[in-house]
Amino acid sequence: MDMRTDPQPIVVQGEQAMRQFGRIGGEVARGGLVLCLDGSLGAGKTTLVSGLAVGLGLQAITQSPTFTLIAEYAGGRLPLYHMDLYRLAQEAPREIQLLDEYLYGDGVCAIEWATWIEGWLPDDRIEFAIRKTDDPETRLIKAIGHGNLAMGVLRNWIDRWSF
Ligand SMILES: Nc1ncnc2c1ncn2[C@@H]1O[C@H](COP(=O)(O)OP(=O)(O)O)[C@@H](O)[C@H]1O
Ligand SMILES: [Mg+2]
Repeated sequence: MDMRTDPQPIVVQGEQAMRQFGRIGGEVARGGLVLCLDGSLGAGKTTLVSGLAVGLGLQAITQSPTFTLIAEYAGGRLPLYHMDLYRLAQEAPREIQLLDEYLYGDGVCAIEWATWIEGWLPDDRIEFAIRKTDDPETRLIKAIGHGNLAMGVLRNWIDRWSF
């Protein structure tokens, strides 16, 4: 079962709004949530995750774990595992295996460039495709929730955002 926001994408005007959108996600997240983020460089993936951290009661994130692949943040309502797979690209199944403990863990997993490991992702997940627009401050997010946990979280997320 899927839940989709299309044909109507979520419209996010400006960096602060993206942080706010992410913050709501951190507030409604549940343990085991996997959040896949795709979109070109500068789309706003890290900005969204930074807000997500704040929503979980953590500090805002200032950088992506491009070289370490994963950064783990404890001390919030739930652990946050932030992955940036940009460097991983198509290779290294050995490294992909190391991600399993996080992908199937009890925390919240936010994955930039998640499509690199598409065949390896848990079935239950939220997918956000973030798109730039002609307006440099506007982003469009197409959201899909696969599975019960993801759909429940996504529904609450979008309800709170539209309210
Ligand atoms: N609506 C918006 N949402 C997110 N970022 C925006 C938006 N408008 C402008 N920006 C800018 O785009 C950049 C997004 O950077 P970042 O979040 O690091 O992207 P990514 O992780 O996808 O490469 C920031 O410089 C931010 O200020
Ligand atoms: Mg990034």
